[in-house]
Amino acid sequence: MENADRLAKDYLKALTGELTARSGDDPSLVPFRVEMMDVAHGPVETVGPPCSLPVFQESLAAALEAMPSSDPIFEAVRALAAKLAWYQVYQGADLDPKLAERMFAGQVVGQIGLLKSDNVRTGLFLLVPGLHYPMHTHGASEIYFCLSGSVTLQYGLNGVPFDLGPGEISVTQSKQVHSLTTGLQPTLLVYQWIGDVDSPNWWWEMRSDGKWWQEKWARQDDASWAAEGVEPVPQDEVTAMS
Ligand SMILES: [Fe+2]
Repeated sequence: MENADRLAKDYLKALTGELTARSGDDPSLVPFRVEMMDVAHGPVETVGPPCSLPVFQESLAAALEAMPSSDPIFEAVRALAAKLAWYQVYQGADLDPKLAERMFAGQVVGQIGLLKSDNVRTGLFLLVPGLHYPMHTHGASEIYFCLSGSVTLQYGLNGVPFDLGPGEISVTQSKQVHSLTTGLQPTLLVYQWIGDVDSPNWWWEMRSDGKWWQEKWARQDDASWAAEGVEPVPQDEVTAMS
């Protein structure tokens, strides 16, 4: 795993470099940079084989091919992407396959990543064309660094959607409701989570009576998320996100 060790550390160095370079203009990136500095540079662990679904393999190959830059973070990802234990992010018998087979992640740091950390989750997030990842919230704070393709992000129930393209970073604060939508190309993102990294993910849905409900997704040992039931969204949360 010597090679994977070097590749994982090149990725961390490149991502930390991006955060350092941008934190002067965007102070909201500072906590992400600080947490990254604390990631133990311990030995790299063996990880399992990547997902074998054809849609995953084709989308990853196309996204890597379309990456427009040779900056260090892009080069680090080019070298590392095939070494990760990619998995389907959401698992569940009731989940629409159009959603389940459109989101894949490969951890570099985290519970199943090449490097272990209790405080940080970072790696690659691959979104297949035609995805709409519905409004959701989580306790962790999150950044996306777009590498390839683009994704339309919306913050808040009435927020104005905007596109995130290669070289651009988004910052999602803890408990901020947000959605992601892809177009015709696969989208490859670096993600980083800090804070409450293992608290549930809540998917919001407005029912026909106009009330918001949320489905709870809990983190599993293999890092994927599994559904655990639905409950009404408290009205004060709806108001805060409107
Ligand atoms: Fe998120």
